[in-house]
Amino acid sequence: MSGMHQAVLLEEAVEALMAGAGGTGSEVYVDGTFGRGGHSAAILRVLSDGQRLVAFDKDPEAMESARLLSSENPAFSFLHDSFGNLERAGSGLAGVLLDLGVSSPQLDDGSRGFSFQQQGPLDMRMDNSKGETAAEFINSASEADLRRVLWDFGEEKFARRIVSALVKRRMVEPFERTEDLAAVVAAANPAWEKHKHPATRTFQALRIHVNRELADLDILLGKVIDLLAVGGRLVVISFHSLEDRRVKTFMRREARGRELPRGVPIRDDERGERLRLLGKPRRASDDELAANPRARSAIMRVAERIA
Ligand SMILES: C[S@@+](CC[C@H](N)C(=O)[O-])C[C@H]1O[C@@H](n2cnc3c(N)ncnc32)[C@H](O)[C@@H]1O
Repeated sequence: MSGMHQAVLLEEAVEALMAGAGGTGSEVYVDGTFGRGGHSAAILRVLSDGQRLVAFDKDPEAMESARLLSSENPAFSFLHDSFGNLERAGSGLAGVLLDLGVSSPQLDDGSRGFSFQQQGPLDMRMDNSKGETAAEFINSASEADLRRVLWDFGEEKFARRIVSALVKRRMVEPFERTEDLAAVVAAANPAWEKHKHPATRTFQALRIHVNRELADLDILLGKVIDLLAVGGRLVVISFHSLEDRRVKTFMRREARGRELPRGVPIRDDERGERLRLLGKPRRASDDELAANPRARSAIMRVAERIA
C-alpha cells in the first residue's frame, strides 16, 4: 500500500529554487510534481508573506494529499493537471521545480501497476482517471510500435525478442497483470544485467509511453523560460538519462544563445542567451543514498532566466 515518499535532494532543491528571483517582485513558485508534497511542504516553510506556491500533479491521489495542505495553508494551491500546462500558474514565475518520474507510493501500490515487484493490474497511468492503460497498449499496439517504445524509452537492446514474446503471448491470452508481463519479459530477455530485473527497461519504457513523460517534459521546456521572471529559476531532478539528456541539452542551448558563424559582429543583447547555468549538476550525498536508495540515479540541474 501507499507509504511515505522520501523527497530526493530536498534541501538542495529548495535552496536552489528559492535563492533566485531576488528583487524581481515575483511572488509565485511552482512545484510541477507534487507527489506526496515533500518538496512543497519544505517550500511552504520558507515562503515569505505574500508569496504563493502552486503545485501540479496528474495523480488523483496526489490531489488527496494536497487537499490537506491547502486547507492548512492559504498560500498553497493545487492543480490536478500536467506541468505541461504551466501557464495555469500564471507568468512572471519566481521559480519552477520538477522532481520527475514516479513517487514511491505510486511504485509501492500494486494496484497502480507500475512495478514488476508488485502484483497488480497492468495500469501504469499516473492519471488513472483517463487514457490508455499499459495493458491496453500492449494488447493492441502493432509490433513496430511496441518495439519503438521499448527501444526509444527503455533503450532495450532486446526489444525485438521481447516484443515477439509479447505478441505470441497476447494471441493466447491478453496481458492483464504486472506479474505476467514481468515473467514473459524475463523469459524472453537473454541478458540479465547485474542488479537489474530483466523487465526493468520494459517497465520503464511502457510507463514513459503511457504517461507521455518525455512529451510533457518537452512541452514544459518549450514554454518555461517565457513564464519565468528574470531571475527566476528552473530546478529539475531527473532519474534517468532520457530525461536528463533533454534537460541538459535545453539548458546548455539556452545558456549559449544563438549559433552564429565566428566573426559576425553582434551586440551582447542580440546573442539571445536566455538562461544562466548555476553550478554543476548535483547528485545525492552518501548520507542521503544510505537512507534512500531511490536517490541513486537522481541528478539535479539548475538554471536562471537572464533575459
Ligand atoms: C518523484 S514524484 C515527486 C515527489 C515529490 N517531490 C515529493 O516530495 O513528494 C513525481 C510525481 O510527479 C507526477 N508527475 C509526473 N509527470 C507529471 C506531469 N507531466 N505533470 C504532472 N505531474 C507529473 C507523478 O504523478 C508523481 O506524483
